[in-house]
Amino acid sequence: MQDFPRLGLYVHIPFCSIKCYYCDFAAFSGQNAIARRYLRALETEAGLYKGRRPETLYVGGGTPSELSAPELRELFALIGRCFPDVRFQESTFEANPESLDEEKLSVLREAGVTRLSLGLQTADDALLKSIGRRHTAEDFRRVYRAARAVAGLAVSVDLMYGLPGQTLEGCLKSLDDVLALSPEHVSLYGLQVEDRTLYGKRDVEPDEALCREMFEASLDRLRAAGLRHYEISNFARPGRESLHNRIYWQDGDYIGLGCSAASYLAGERWSNADRLTVYCDAVEAGRSPAAQRERLQGREKLGERAFLGLRLVEGFVPGRELEEAFAPQWARLAARGLVERRGAVVKLTREGVFLANQAFSEFVPPFDDAIQHAEAAA
Ligand SMILES: C[S@@+](CC[C@H](N)C(=O)[O-])C[C@H]1O[C@@H](n2cnc3c(N)ncnc32)[C@H](O)[C@@H]1O
Ligand code: SF4
Repeated sequence: MQDFPRLGLYVHIPFCSIKCYYCDFAAFSGQNAIARRYLRALETEAGLYKGRRPETLYVGGGTPSELSAPELRELFALIGRCFPDVRFQESTFEANPESLDEEKLSVLREAGVTRLSLGLQTADDALLKSIGRRHTAEDFRRVYRAARAVAGLAVSVDLMYGLPGQTLEGCLKSLDDVLALSPEHVSLYGLQVEDRTLYGKRDVEPDEALCREMFEASLDRLRAAGLRHYEISNFARPGRESLHNRIYWQDGDYIGLGCSAASYLAGERWSNADRLTVYCDAVEAGRSPAAQRERLQGREKLGERAFLGLRLVEGFVPGRELEEAFAPQWARLAARGLVERRGAVVKLTREGVFLANQAFSEFVPPFDDAIQHAEAAA
């Protein structure tokens, strides 16, 4: 298996121009005025990790491009002060089309950013408006071209399917528009309706059969365009997979800075307070911003390895302990046609990729060890 980085650094920037109707991330509109205070808190928190040498950087959100150019300069300067002499193998910056301009792109270039993750969701302007977005498809194309021209960045584009009012033709047209630009990477997400979002409150329910059609047809187009499906929601040209995300999927360590950010070091995992001011208050008072901590052990730890490993389309080698700890679950998934084996490698089938959340639920407590399903017993 290819060598990959073992420690990643994630920095969460929680500001957004508007809250999209489907979004459940720690992302707040109308709060940019406290950006300087937030950056100071990030630097204080980063001080806890002095001496560590992360190999990848991911600045995500929220919308990092909501920071002004001087604030962005300060963000990268503080990362440099806290992790001196670190040269990241990959440095990703997440942005929205309405808030990234040439001046900010120059800051990214000077800071050594290598990769831009640009959120489009759909190239249909009417649909963009109806899901709460503030940009048009043309804004996206302009920023995409500038990212190439000004900063020479590799680009990943986020797209969604299953949005209310989205048609199969519309979904594929968006994908074709994006593929025409030849991005190195595409992330394609099926709409998840979360309770706390506007869609959750309105009981929006994606049409499962239509989602299935959108996903299947998209897989074929992405493959035809030379983008390899390497993780449930991610597609890349050869050698352009996200190194940072691979750390999460391959059970590596990561440091998360900022509100809601998660960290995982030496078997312990914790996430910071979601709320912006709760996070800042804690850091400023010299308290830990962590809201919850856990150390996964035994079957829980093995279960996590299973569903993380299954996220990779090429599959993974579970090993004897994980095979035995979840023998009924593996049998049930095989009987349902959701996993398949090649030698020691286990992977999701095409059906399993679409129903991945059902497959993963087998490895999350409370575990159901009874082989009561007729198909599994057969
Ligand atoms: C951290 S988020 C947002 C990044 C950036 N602010 C943007 O909106 O483009 C990364 C991606 O997750 C996806 N996403 C967010 N909420 C989702 C949901 N409820 N269901 C499916 N995908 C979602 C969107 O494609 C989004 O671009
Ligand atoms: S999808 Fe992006 S822009 Fe929209 S609210 Fe979430 S983080 Fe902010």
